[in-house]
Amino acid sequence: MSNELTDTKFVIDRTIEEQVDIIRKPWENSPYYDSAEKWTFIFWDQDRKFKPYFDMLDTTAMLELSCGHGRHAEHSAKLAGKLTLVDIIPENVDFCRERLKGFDNISFELGKGTSFPNTADESLTAIYCYDAMVHFLPDIVEAYLKDTARVLKPGGRALYHHSNYSASNRLIKGGTPGARGYMTKDLFRELATSAKLNVLKQEIIDWGGHQDLDCISLLEKPC
Ligand SMILES: C[S@@+](CC[C@H](N)C(=O)[O-])C[C@H]1O[C@@H](n2cnc3c(N)ncnc32)[C@H](O)[C@@H]1O
Repeated sequence: MSNELTDTKFVIDRTIEEQVDIIRKPWENSPYYDSAEKWTFIFWDQDRKFKPYFDMLDTTAMLELSCGHGRHAEHSAKLAGKLTLVDIIPENVDFCRERLKGFDNISFELGKGTSFPNTADESLTAIYCYDAMVHFLPDIVEAYLKDTARVLKPGGRALYHHSNYSASNRLIKGGTPGARGYMTKDLFRELATSAKLNVLKQEIIDWGGHQDLDCISLLEKPC
């Protein structure tokens, strides 16, 4: 473990279950879901940052982590063979089930916040997570990266939009810009490498008027 991570764990005196609980709560019945719909183009327009990375995924057997109300699945389901949607809030999974009932290639899973539920080893060609891992703290990111290495097929890839905010460890929504969790590009790279994932690309991006707040990382499980 790096000093950076050890220091972070020292400051965050909460179990991983407590962290999951704290981070989940603000997203229950949140006005976020409706207001975020108008910004969905940021992820899916070809001339924006995210879509060229998405185009580097093999979408045969794909999973979206933290699907919220399904605004991304409206796009990705059309490009996927099979798509699994995972969220930690039951109402979100139900909302997606209703919203996306016209698609016959989507399945839905309720997660517990640190791993991919009901997902067999080496069963996925791709995972993506947009505008959600940015809130997770290092323990949760580390857990998901370990499970990413378990569920991806060799050569499978994960596209993660995560935080690059390290000025404070405050957990409370509103306490950091955009409710970002503590993370850096380099710490994420180190956690991914420890999980035996190759880091193919990383790009620091601005978000919500904050310079260099986030990062896009493209990972690959070695063949
Ligand atoms: C800001 S919303 C983003 C939703 C969706 N990705 C979008 O862009 O519209 C954050 C999402 O992360 C989910 N979430 C929070 N903690 C989680 C965890 N530990 N594991 C998986 N999902 C989590 C919430 O339920 C919520 O759906």
